[in-house]
Amino acid sequence: MAEIKNNIYYVGAKDWDRKFFDELVPLSEGTTYNAYFIKGSEKNVLIDSVDPEKFDTLLSNLERLGVEKIDYIVSLHCEQDHSGCIPVILQEFPECKVVTNEKNCGLLQEHLHISPEQIQVIEEWETLSLGDKTLQFFFIPWVHWPETMAAYLQEDKVLFPCDMFGSHYATSEMFAKSDAYQLELIKSYYAEIMMPYKKVIVKNLEKIDQLDIDMIAASHGPIYDDPQFPINAYKDWVSDKVTNHVVIPYISMHHSTRIMVEHLIDELTERGIHARPYNLIGCDISQLASSLVDSATVVLAGPQILAGPHPALANAAFLANMLKPKTKFVSIMGSYGWGGKMVEKLKAAIPNIKAELIEPLMIKGMPREDDLQLINEFADKILEKHRSEGLVE
Ligand code: FEO
Repeated sequence: MAEIKNNIYYVGAKDWDRKFFDELVPLSEGTTYNAYFIKGSEKNVLIDSVDPEKFDTLLSNLERLGVEKIDYIVSLHCEQDHSGCIPVILQEFPECKVVTNEKNCGLLQEHLHISPEQIQVIEEWETLSLGDKTLQFFFIPWVHWPETMAAYLQEDKVLFPCDMFGSHYATSEMFAKSDAYQLELIKSYYAEIMMPYKKVIVKNLEKIDQLDIDMIAASHGPIYDDPQFPINAYKDWVSDKVTNHVVIPYISMHHSTRIMVEHLIDELTERGIHARPYNLIGCDISQLASSLVDSATVVLAGPQILAGPHPALANAAFLANMLKPKTKFVSIMGSYGWGGKMVEKLKAAIPNIKAELIEPLMIKGMPREDDLQLINEFADKILEKHRSEGLVE
């Protein structure tokens, strides 16, 4: 528990040990469930709750603050890591009303069985007076789910943007450093849950640009007292700009694909292009997702197995397709023993990636000298494409 600004308190919980989120996303740094308590001169507000696993921490933080009454609990998002304790909060503080939007009102009833009588529905840009402080609400859909919204504390210029700008980062530091490490953590978070909704995120950023913001208190990770740091990063990621990188998710059974990938990396490097290989055995998919945010090219690489792609490569293609990266070019390479339809199957698996296909390269068996020459030509094609985007001279 800590005061982050005038009568605004952090009352959330750190989950140092959590290894996965949604049983999907690996958490190398744990996570936090951020909840904030605002003491107004007339009314008190709790912004969100915490994951039910951490209810004791939330309650203990409220007790240490001496909270005897909560007038409102603002629910920015129905996902249970933020809303899961609302039913017990309503039991502990029976006078408390849930404040949220129409869409979330329905979801809270469905997922948490909260009665509609306990919910006060607000419209977009509506305000809620706490006496000397005023909360204003606006909708920022698809910063995870369709009902997600933000709250803005007008007098203190604090934005509570729900999952937007969040990071899975349990740290004892209350405020984020505006450094490369924090940027990587925000980026992987953006990649995993917001990248598929880039067009909506652009509109959400336009709303945020209308506000005068001193501090951003997101629902996960440390708080930003340098609000332009995450805002500018998001603007970059939702733009059409790509970087001079080739992401290569790959798997190799008997070294043929590995030799091809390693040769391609050398050839790309010689041409001034950065390569990011991800061996799909034990790969942290957060890092792979993060690389997909702005890399110009993706090359899926692997062996043909049972007439199709290796399942690990098919899974990587499925993930990339789901995340809808803005990559400009895509290709496939690998090795085969006899026949099969790996290329056709992988091409059919990525309809959401609106990228130009660079002619795939399949090699029979272990690469020989003339096969390596084909990889050099493959690297030349990538160079030509990156040049056409002005990414390399
Ligand atoms: Fe942090 Fe979408 O919940």
